[in-house]
Amino acid sequence: MNTWKIYPLDQYDLAGSYDLVELQSPPGLTNMIVPKRTIDLLFTALFITGNNCHLHGSSGSGKTTLVQCLTQVPENIPPLCEAYGIEEFRVQCFSFPITAVETSAELYRLRSISPERGTYYEDSELWQWLTWVDEQEDGAEVYVAHIRELFRGQEAVEHALLDIISDGPLTAPDGRVLRRCGKRIRWVADSNMGVTSALVNQADNAILRRFPVQRHIEPTPHAERVILERLLEAEQLHYIPKHLESMLMLGARIREMQQRDGRFLSITPGIPLYLAIMKIAGQQSTMDFPDLLLHTLFGASSDEQEHLPAMFEEAFGQRKAKAALLPVGEDLL
Ligand SMILES: Nc1ncnc2c1ncn2[C@@H]1O[C@H](COP(=O)(O)OP(=O)(O)OP(=O)(O)O)[C@@H](O)[C@H]1O
Ligand SMILES: [Mg+2]
Repeated sequence: MNTWKIYPLDQYDLAGSYDLVELQSPPGLTNMIVPKRTIDLLFTALFITGNNCHLHGSSGSGKTTLVQCLTQVPENIPPLCEAYGIEEFRVQCFSFPITAVETSAELYRLRSISPERGTYYEDSELWQWLTWVDEQEDGAEVYVAHIRELFRGQEAVEHALLDIISDGPLTAPDGRVLRRCGKRIRWVADSNMGVTSALVNQADNAILRRFPVQRHIEPTPHAERVILERLLEAEQLHYIPKHLESMLMLGARIREMQQRDGRFLSITPGIPLYLAIMKIAGQQSTMDFPDLLLHTLFGASSDEQEHLPAMFEEAFGQRKAKAALLPVGEDLL
């Protein structure tokens, strides 16, 4: 088994490419633990070569939080600048979910109504920010626009992004032109591209072309175990159920089936769910773990029950597989 270590950021240059590095997260979130090679790619592209990046992967794989760590947590930047031997800079980030934009016109301006003014229009927050970036003097600032949940928005809005994500001058529908911000802004997007779901739009080549760096974010089962152990330690949860490994194996198997055969699509294995399961199991050490998985990891799957006994047998051995044989909704007595 690999023995990758977790390095704090101030020891970044000691870490190997496949080691894990701990990044400080935005307030209230657990610290992100990420393979160094992922940070190498994103940091270089966003902050050194100035290339747009798209992070894709399943829900809960940490895409949004990772972008936030690199763009909204200033403490993470100086140690990385030192490790890369570049001058320190500040990141100015504008982050927005594309799902909140209802029409392509709203990327530029919003219609409002007030008793005093009747119907009136004002610049969207995005256009205000683009205008602000356009007006800034050159300096130690890096401007990043973070689009959350790309490919889940209205298709017309996503088409309209093609015009906005560009190095050239930006022209609003009312004719106003911003000449400098196109060259200054690096775009980063996160999406569930590749996840088989009718709710995710098909990825469009013209949009993908605007993001030369395409990084799939999905921790390996080994990294997941190390990350979970660290997160459980931070929660002061010292009892780690012995079935941790089996749970991770089942999660990995589910993802494999999702990608290969389109099965178990209603399940989202990943750190947030694993953490919740381990907290419950850690609280009640006598709890039957396979049964707990039935109501958590497998809790949302109703049409794939016939596969469960074989999966449980593989994970826990024959005796425990009986948990999966019970009809859905019936408790173990
Ligand atoms: N590598 C990791 N290290 C630590 N925590 C993680 C990691 N990956 C995910 N998490 C945990 O999972 C939470 C959810 O992550 P996040 O919302 O960034 O996922 P996402 O990939 O953007 O999901 P979605 O596709 O649903 O938007 C994080 O706040 C964090 O608590
Ligand atoms: Mg997200």
